[in-house]
Amino acid sequence: MSKQLEKIKQLIENREKARMGGGEKAIEKQHARGKYTARERIDMLLDEGSFEEYDMFKLHRCTNFGMEKKQYLGDGVVTGSGTIDGRLVFVFAQDFTVNGGSLSETMAQKICKIMDMAMKMGAPVIGINDSGGARIQEGICALAGYAEIFERNILASGVIPQISGIFGPCAGGAVYSPALTDFTLMMENTSYMFLTGPKVVKTVTGEDIDQEHLGGASVHSTKSGVTHFTAATEEEAMQMIRTLLSYIPSNNMEVAPRKKCEDPIDRLEDSLNEIIPENPNEAYNMYKVISAIVDDGEFFEVQPKFAKNIIVGFARFNGQSVGIVANQPSCYAGVLDVNASRKGARFVRFCDAFNIPIVSLVDVPGFLPGTGQEYNAVILHGAKLLYAYGEATVPKITVTLRKSYGGSHIVMGCKQLRADINYAWPSAEIAVMGASGAVAVLCAKEAKDKKAAGEDVQAFLAEKEEEYTEMFANPYQAAKYGYIDDVIEPRNTRFRICRALAQLSTKRESLPAKKHGNIPM
Ligand code: HXC
Repeated sequence: MSKQLEKIKQLIENREKARMGGGEKAIEKQHARGKYTARERIDMLLDEGSFEEYDMFKLHRCTNFGMEKKQYLGDGVVTGSGTIDGRLVFVFAQDFTVNGGSLSETMAQKICKIMDMAMKMGAPVIGINDSGGARIQEGICALAGYAEIFERNILASGVIPQISGIFGPCAGGAVYSPALTDFTLMMENTSYMFLTGPKVVKTVTGEDIDQEHLGGASVHSTKSGVTHFTAATEEEAMQMIRTLLSYIPSNNMEVAPRKKCEDPIDRLEDSLNEIIPENPNEAYNMYKVISAIVDDGEFFEVQPKFAKNIIVGFARFNGQSVGIVANQPSCYAGVLDVNASRKGARFVRFCDAFNIPIVSLVDVPGFLPGTGQEYNAVILHGAKLLYAYGEATVPKITVTLRKSYGGSHIVMGCKQLRADINYAWPSAEIAVMGASGAVAVLCAKEAKDKKAAGEDVQAFLAEKEEEYTEMFANPYQAAKYGYIDDVIEPRNTRFRICRALAQLSTKRESLPAKKHGNIPM
C-alpha cells in the first residue's frame, strides 16, 4: 500500500473511531436508557445526508485526575452544519457516552465555533444537551467555557433563532444556556434541568425530592414555564424542532418561509357567529376559534401546558406565518396573571425580533386580583406584556371577541400600543370594568341610602348594571372614537385577517434610537 493510501486508511479509521464516541459499551448503556447517541440524534434532526461535521479530531488538553487516559476524538460533542427542509442550520449534540458529555474547555470551543458560524451565516443554532455539566477535572477552564457560550447566546439573541433540546441531564449553571435561547424542548422522563440536584436540596433545605419532581419535563412544562415543548420520544422531539423552524425565519433580516396555501382566504366559518354564549359568564374554547380561522386549522402551540389562560403559538394565514396570542375563556375565564403575562410577553418579543406578525384574539376580563399575584409582582409582569406589545413594530392585528376590560384591554394589543388594525366582533365589551364592579363603585352611596330607607337594593343595582351594560358592553363606544377600526362579522374573521396582513406587508415602523430599553423584569 502506498504512503498516500496508508494515510487515507488511517483517516477512515480515525473517523470510524470518532464516530464510536465513548465506545460500544457506553453506547449500549445509552441505548438501554432509551436514549439515542449524539450522532443518531443529529441524523434524525437534519435532512438526510446533509450533515457536515466540524472538529471531529479535537482533543481536550487536561491532565488532571487521569484525564490523559480519557481522550476521545471529538471530546464529547458533535458539531457542524446541515439543513432542515433545505434551510441551513448549525447544530451541536453533546455525547453522554464520552465523559458523561461533560463540558470541557475544548467542547466549549467547538460549540462556540458553530455559534460564530451561525451568526456569520444568519442561520439558526440547535443545541442538543445531554451532559453532566462542567467537566470537574478542568475546573475554571470549564466554567470559562460555559461563559463563552452564554455570551454568544446573548449576542445571538434576536439575531438568529436559538433552540435547545434537553435530552438528558442539564444541571448547575449549564441550564443557563438553554434559558438564554428562544425555545427549549425537554424529553419526558429522561431529561431534567435544575440549578442544584436532589442531594444538595436535601442538605440545604431538608426537602426530599427526586429529579423528576425537582426539574423534570413535567415540572418545567407546567409549573415553571422553563420549557416550551415536551416530547415523549426523541423522534417526536426532532419532528417538533423541524416544525417549529418551518414557522420562523433563519435570522432577523429575513421573513419566515411562506407555505403554499390551498385553504381559501375567504372561507366563511359560520360556527363563529354562534360561538359566544348568551351568558357573558359562560366560557367557550378559544382553540375552536383559532383552528377555524387559520390555514387548514393548523396551530403549533408554544407552552401548551403552562399558564393555560393564555394561548400562544404559530399558525399561518394565506401561507404567511404569524404568532397568535389569545386569551382562553375556558381557563380561569381568560384572566391575565403573572405566568400568563410572562408567557405572552416572551412570545410577543420573539415574534417581533423575527419579523413575525402578531394576531391577538382578545377575551379578557382583567388581571387576577389578590395577594398571591401582588406579592409575585403581577405589576411588573403585566407591565412586561404591555411593554412587549407596545415595543413590537411587526404588523399587529387585534380582534376583540368578547371582554376587554381595564388594564387588560390596554395590554392585549390596543390601538394606542400601536396595533395596526383593531377589529371587534359585535359581542365585544370594551370598557373600564365589568358591570357589577362598575356599579358597585358608581352607585355605592345611592345603594347605601336606599338600604337605609328600606328600599330593594338588589333591584336597584340590577337596574343600574343593565344600564351600564347597555351603555358600555359593546364595541361601538370604542368604534365611535376610532379605537376599533371596524366591527366585523365573526364568520368573516379569517378573510379580514388575511386581507389585513396583505395590507400590512410593507409596514415600516421604528423605535427611537437607544442602546436598549429597560423592560420590567
Ligand atoms: C467530569 C463527569 C461529569 C462531570 C459525569 N462525568 N459528569 N466527568 N465532570 N461533570 C463522567 C463520570 O465520571 C463517568 O465517567 C461518566 O461521566 C458517566 O457518568 P455516570 O455518573 O456514570 O453516569 P450516571 O450514573 O448516568 O449519572 C449521570 C450524572 C452524574 C447524574 C450526570 O454523572 C453526575 O451527577 N455528574 C456530576 C454532575 C454535576 O454535579 N456537575 C457539575 C454541575 S455544576 P466514567 O469515566 O466513569 O465513565 C456545573 C457548573 C456549571 O455544571 C457552571 C456554568 C456557569
